[in-house]
Formats: sequence, structure tokens, C-alpha cells
Amino acid sequence: MSGTPVVASTRAELATLLAAARADGRAVGLVPTMGALHEGHASLVRTARERVAADGQSGPVVVSIFVNPLQFGAGEDLDRYPRTLEDDLAICEREGVDIVFAPSVDEVYPGGEPQVSVKPGPLGKVLEGKTRPGHFRGVLTVVAKLFGLVRPDVAVFGQKDYQQLALIRRMVLDLNLGVEVVGAETVREYDGLALSSRNRYLDDEQRRQATALSRTLRAAQEVGHYGLDVALDSARAELRAADGVDLDYLVVTDPDLGTLPDVVPPGTEARILIAARVGTTRLIDNMPLVLGEPVAPREGAS
Ligand code: PAJ
Repeated sequence: MSGTPVVASTRAELATLLAAARADGRAVGLVPTMGALHEGHASLVRTARERVAADGQSGPVVVSIFVNPLQFGAGEDLDRYPRTLEDDLAICEREGVDIVFAPSVDEVYPGGEPQVSVKPGPLGKVLEGKTRPGHFRGVLTVVAKLFGLVRPDVAVFGQKDYQQLALIRRMVLDLNLGVEVVGAETVREYDGLALSSRNRYLDDEQRRQATALSRTLRAAQEVGHYGLDVALDSARAELRAADGVDLDYLVVTDPDLGTLPDVVPPGTEARILIAARVGTTRLIDNMPLVLGEPVAPREGAS
């Protein structure tokens, strides 16, 4: 599908727009965002498009644009979070989005803060959850509401927000929401910086300093085959050489954000995650990591 996306700002408009696709039995794809769209978001749209087109007849791709107050803590950037609807719509048009759902806060939370919300459980308390209490309750609650409003077959999220992706997968599993969750790879700038709506808070100097996050992760990734200790040492050395980066955490976990075993067998898949402040801007990033010497196939082995 192509052309200008149709913009729905109410739940009723959205339901009307989706009714036709539902009647035809076409798959619906959803990409939830808070707007200030960039190439990372655009790549999620492309993934959603591929997924709904998989069965030959393409269903609609819905992009939601909603700065969700429930996931911002006191003193966070809710008020200054970039709101760039015109530019966002241009990107959606370029990417062939069918429906943009851009509701007001009242439309999403008609009675104010909901009485019932989604509790993220233990995974919501670590890493980002530690510094941002209540954040993942807000995220999961709004994503559950968006799933209820759009009833997508497929929803695409970025690996950039790895803990968020893990929690959404967990929610879908634990609450039997019946949505296929796809995690798309992180899109980066030429110098490795992960694209983020918050990068626009950085001045030139901070923008340069921010590249230390991806350099740190890469430093670990490159020597992962020597084992966890070497990988972490290499990452920390990179961080020490960086200026202007105030580290919050640098951790290596298993791919589900669980603890790695004491003895890590060769070839173990892991994830390295970092959060740091550059100036007043909090940035996060993560990369996959394979730990331990890869087991070379034995000559003659079948
Ligand atoms: P937002 O920060 O706008 O991100 C929307 C989606 O884009 C998320 O799934 C995020 O992981 C993905 N994304 C961001 N930067 C990316 C990059 N560089 N490469 C690939 N994907 C990227 O995440 C949220 O909004 C909100 O918490 C939301 C899920 C919409 C709930 O309010």
C-alpha cells in the first residue's frame, strides 16, 4: 500500500479504519512509537510491512504516535520530549504506513490514570527499572492498551530498548495476548551511535562523547571469545578512555537478561548492556555477545 497515511486521533476512527482489513481477514501490523521518528523507527515499519505481506495479501501497517505520560517519572523529560508530528507523518508516508494512530492523552486515558495496570514483575525492577521506577509499568500498560485497540497480529519493537522488548515478550506470554512480537536490529549512525529520539538533546561535544557507548560494547564484543572477564576488561578500558560519560551500568547477561552461569561454556550467547548519562541526557545501548572460545569442528567429525 502507498499514499498518504490516514491519521486517526480517536479510538472510534481507528476501529472504523481497521474494520475493513479485519473483515477481509488480513493481518494487521503495529509499530508503537512516541514519535520524533528516525531511521530506527522506519526500519521497524519495513519489518512490519514484510510480516503482514508474508501471506501474499498485504494487511495494514499501523504506527502509533503517543508520548505516554505513564512511563515518565517525576523530573524526567515528558514536557520537553520532542513532538514533531508533521515530520513524523512525512516519514510514515515515505515508508508506506497505512494508518497513523495519534491520540491525545485523554483519548488513551479517559478516566485519568488507569486503576488497573500491568505489573512488570522482577524483570521490571533491574537495570532501567532500578533508575526509572514505574517506567516499565507505564510502558507495558500502554502497550497492552494499544494491543487492545489495534488488535495486531504482529507488533514490531526495537532491540535498542532490549529490556523493554524482553518485558513485552514476557507480558504477551504471561497474559496470552496472542500477538507475535518481532525484535528488530538497532539502527546506528555512521559512527556507531544508536539512533534515538533523545540524541537531539546532545550538543556537538556531547554527541561526540556519546559514541563511547557503542565503542564500549564493541570492545567487549570483539574479544568475547576470550571469555567474560576479558570482554568486560576490554569494555571498561574503552570507558576509562572516554570523557563526559557518567556510567550507570555495564552488564553482561544471558539473552533473556538472566544471570549467566558461573562457568560459561564456549559459544554461550550473551547480551552486553550499557546505560550512561552524557550531560543531562540518559542514553542506553546493547549488543549481542558470544562468550568463550568457539568450538572448532573436529576433523572428520560428521
Ligand atoms: P520510542 O522510543 O519512540 O521507540 C519506538 C520503537 O522504536 C521501540 O520499539 C524502540 O525500541 C524502537 N527504536 C528506537 N530506536 C531504535 C533504533 N536505533 N533502531 C531500531 N529500533 C529503534 O519505545 C518507545 O517509544 C515506547 O516505550 C513505546 C514502546 C512506544 C511505549 O510507549
